[in-house]
Amino acid sequence: MARIPLMAGNWKMNLDHLEATALAQRLYWALRDANFDYSKVEVALIPPFTDLRSVQTVTDADNMAIVYGAQDVSVHAAGAYTGEISAHMLAKLGCSFVVVGHSERRQYHGETDQEVGEKAKAALGAGITPIICVGEALAIRKAGEHVAYTLAQIDGVYAELGPTLAPATTVAYEPVWAIGTGEVATPADAQEVCGAIRGRLAALFGRETAEGIRILYGGSVKASNVASIMAEADVDGALVGGASLDPAEFSKICRFAELIA
Ligand code: 13P
Repeated sequence: MARIPLMAGNWKMNLDHLEATALAQRLYWALRDANFDYSKVEVALIPPFTDLRSVQTVTDADNMAIVYGAQDVSVHAAGAYTGEISAHMLAKLGCSFVVVGHSERRQYHGETDQEVGEKAKAALGAGITPIICVGEALAIRKAGEHVAYTLAQIDGVYAELGPTLAPATTVAYEPVWAIGTGEVATPADAQEVCGAIRGRLAALFGRETAEGIRILYGGSVKASNVASIMAEADVDGALVGGASLDPAEFSKICRFAELIA
């Protein structure tokens, strides 16, 4: 089954809503100038909550094929949860995606696999594709436990979803030691874990479902390393942090196929 690659730019806590509008426009122009074919690669922006309305307005106004999503979502549908944002609110703003279980949320906000699974379920209930993040810290990799650790995260999250919801998910493998460090996993490192994740999804939900789920790599992806990572069989895109804040660099990442040629 052909999986359309996804390049998602996770802006993290960067850019106010005016800067967000400017970056979306500059990226759009850069891709337009390069005659970018959105049917071959899906391009998504993952800005902070406060930028979503502005990103919606600018992408609608210019009829951009760029899609967008949020960086987190509440497990709750509505109610007395001060500071939380519901999946319904994100759907109303036109979000296609929501990142759940990013390592920064697991680390600083104590999110567990169960909670990440509940967040993914809340997103799916509103018609939004969750990008489920998994990945190991440096000590776990040094101990040679990275595959087992990451697969245990997959088991924990997908236990909340089951076979009906699983096909509508996306996974991002982000080794924590490669995030924001400039330390990129080798293509073989990325393939080892992304391949193991697909194998586990096949064991849980069947080969056909596993072949349809996109698995992204994240961690210091740049224009200079994206092509070799994308050449791996089980890597279907990238979740890009720092490099997605530079429209010229991110547009090159989206055009990774030209870098292979
Ligand atoms: P960097 O690309 O800045 O390493 O961030 C990766 C990441 O965490 C994307 O979600």
